Amino acid sequence: MRQKIVAGNWKMNKTPEEAHQLASAVVSFFDQQYTSLPKIIFCPPFPYLADIVSITKHDTRFSVGAQNCSEHQWGAYTGEVSAPMLKALGVKYVIIGHSERRQYFGEDGALLAQKVDAALANNLTPVFCCGEPLIVREDNKHTDLVKTQVEEALFHLPAEGIKKIVIAYEPVWAIGTGKTATSQQAQEMHAVIRKHIAGRYGKEVAESISILYGGSVNAGNAKELFSCADVDGGLVGGASLKPNEFIEIIKAGSN
Ligand code: PGA
Repeated sequence: MRQKIVAGNWKMNKTPEEAHQLASAVVSFFDQQYTSLPKIIFCPPFPYLADIVSITKHDTRFSVGAQNCSEHQWGAYTGEVSAPMLKALGVKYVIIGHSERRQYFGEDGALLAQKVDAALANNLTPVFCCGEPLIVREDNKHTDLVKTQVEEALFHLPAEGIKKIVIAYEPVWAIGTGKTATSQQAQEMHAVIRKHIAGRYGKEVAESISILYGGSVNAGNAKELFSCADVDGGLVGGASLKPNEFIEIIKAGSN
């Protein structure tokens, strides 16, 4: 069975103290009284990973993810952080292919396929992001583009490999804009992605993969989005920086 997940992508925000307080506030709020919570993942900037791992490691409902990793394991790659380094810190997830990485750092499908491999080789779970810019949706090519993004980065994997992936559908026009996809638009694309995976790997594999929605998720819209049949939770940016709002979103993802 696929898992419900609520992940907070903090992007390049927060001081070390603020990061510590944010994670601590959320973890202490959910102290044992809540039972049917989704998997909760904090994705802080690299320098804070170790601290956030130490705040969450006593509670298996929480995990820590990085926002990116190198496609290389070790070596002369100044400024890069590798999957084995993340693993050694206690990180469990890594966001790969976020639209900001694609847009500002030129990451393409071939590179993302290598990053996915590097993550899996080190037992990290990739949270693979896909999603279309507005112009592509207006051109009615959004399903084709997202299918291609999934193929390029994931379809080289064997079934056992793709089963370990979490996918996040994040329409670029909804990221940081306050303009959320409607639950109908989200459900439609999630179903397209799942069907595409089923076509290549079979229904059982496709049904086992968590597909998260991302793009202006907030406390007001999370419940409706997460209740769609093929939406298994969310990847949350701006609203994950406010403890009370993130707590409400996590509650929306509870069973
Ligand atoms: P947002 O960001 O929730 O601020 O739109 C989501 C993301 O980029 O993952």
